[in-house]
Amino acid sequence: MIKVLFIASEMEPLAKTGGLADVIGVLPKKLNDIGCDVRIILPYYREVRDNLRRLKLKVRNLPREVLVSIDWLAYKGTIKETTVDGVTVYLLCNDELYDRDSLYTTPNGDYRDNDVRFGFFSLGALEIAKALNFKPDIIHCNDWQSAMAPIALKWKKHYNNDPFFYDSKIVFTIHNIAYQGIYGREILDKFGLSQSLFNTEHLEFYGRANLLKGGIITSDLVNTVSPTYAKEIRTREYGYGLDGVLRVISNEGKLAGILNGIDYDDWDPEKDKDLYFNFSFDNLRGKFQNKSKLKSVLGFDANGQKPLIGVISRLALQKGVDLVVRSLNSILDLDVDLVILGRGDKRYEKLLKDVSADYRGNFKAVIGYDESKARRIYAGCDMFLMPSRFEPCGLGQLISLRYGTIPIVRGTGGLLDTITDYTENRESGNGFIFRRFNEEDMIDSIERALSVYRNREEWLNLIRTGMQMDFSWNKSSKVYLNHYKMLLGKN
Ligand code: ADP
Ligand code: GLC
Repeated sequence: MIKVLFIASEMEPLAKTGGLADVIGVLPKKLNDIGCDVRIILPYYREVRDNLRRLKLKVRNLPREVLVSIDWLAYKGTIKETTVDGVTVYLLCNDELYDRDSLYTTPNGDYRDNDVRFGFFSLGALEIAKALNFKPDIIHCNDWQSAMAPIALKWKKHYNNDPFFYDSKIVFTIHNIAYQGIYGREILDKFGLSQSLFNTEHLEFYGRANLLKGGIITSDLVNTVSPTYAKEIRTREYGYGLDGVLRVISNEGKLAGILNGIDYDDWDPEKDKDLYFNFSFDNLRGKFQNKSKLKSVLGFDANGQKPLIGVISRLALQKGVDLVVRSLNSILDLDVDLVILGRGDKRYEKLLKDVSADYRGNFKAVIGYDESKARRIYAGCDMFLMPSRFEPCGLGQLISLRYGTIPIVRGTGGLLDTITDYTENRESGNGFIFRRFNEEDMIDSIERALSVYRNREEWLNLIRTGMQMDFSWNKSSKVYLNHYKMLLGKN
């Protein structure tokens, strides 16, 4: 049995801002099913405490403490243990660091001590493994928040010399290269790293220290969450300054692209308790009943044949919601209804609130994070719009397909690996793609979708094509397992 220590800053259903949580909520479970022993380490945020209570999950306080020294201060953590869907989760507790309103940010920007919060988390994760004598074969890190773990294992004496981790191999998954954990060079001293690491071969990045860069260099295998994004991040356009480093590790055969899936048990229109009506591939009636109900809840005309387009998104530059707002008149001129559910950057929230007041009856922006509403939108819409500037994988389009909602996406990253344009390929098409990030191309793709929508039989076929596809984790979990085995010389 391969022992895997998963270090991640989000996990469904305990703490979530985006798709990372979805992945950590299901991939470990699937890996356990195929013969791994995965333990997850997660910070005990206030949100985690609240969700544990809401879900009535059992929590045990473990009689162990971990200590991490940061800036000559001893940071202490206690450990709680819970089980989610059969997977063991260790929660690293330190109220001063994690008992806060949100995971990463205040309304005015990131918490200033995120270097300490996530440095402590990454090193605390290694300490938890030791304290509980869980000797990992694989340490699987996710995004910059976990990067201090591989950095310390390679470059910090205390860990580098520790026989406990001698045989551990490190896998690092990049879910989004736009977030890198960049700090002043003092971070080296803070975490007891030698100043000799402050050069371009190691942590230095345009005069500052870049944790994601360190994580990439010090891991045994780096992967990202789709094959296309794995190629894109090696280019200047998408690499956010790390394309050079990624080209190097790619030449060394250490960069992979492994497509995400979604949890087909959780995202199931037949069983989803949040829907007004359940439905299935064989009986789509409920889908259209969901649409009418959703429209009336949104204050739209519930009876007409007008198509309903949905957007569910973190409000960040990446997601292109600004393009939707800019193109709002042209979209609504196409005689469609549009609903946007989103939370994120205050400037986008404001933009949406401002325009929402000007349109009534065919456009609504719901600001907030609400999973039940999201589920009803996935189910009740005809089309799901994802105009991403870049998209490492994207899960929204996969959930939409499962709920019989046709994705209209910009052709980038994982969207290209999961959506085939129906206009170009009527056999295998499952959605509509626009290539260039501009209003004209996006409107063209919506128009193409609408012309198929008007032919009911053809549209129903398209719905069924999507619902039949398999974007569960069955394939990709095996790909991860094979990489683990390869690293451990077990293949
Ligand atoms: P990202 O991780 O970049 O935000 P993904 O498409 O991979 O994008 O995953 C987004 C996840 O977050 C999906 O599960 C989506 O349903 C969910 N989500 C995003 N915004 C909201 C919101 N405002 N309310 C509820 N769920 C949301
Ligand atoms: C990131 C990406 C998204 C991906 C998710 C899970 O948040 O933006 O594209 O699906 O991580 O890997």
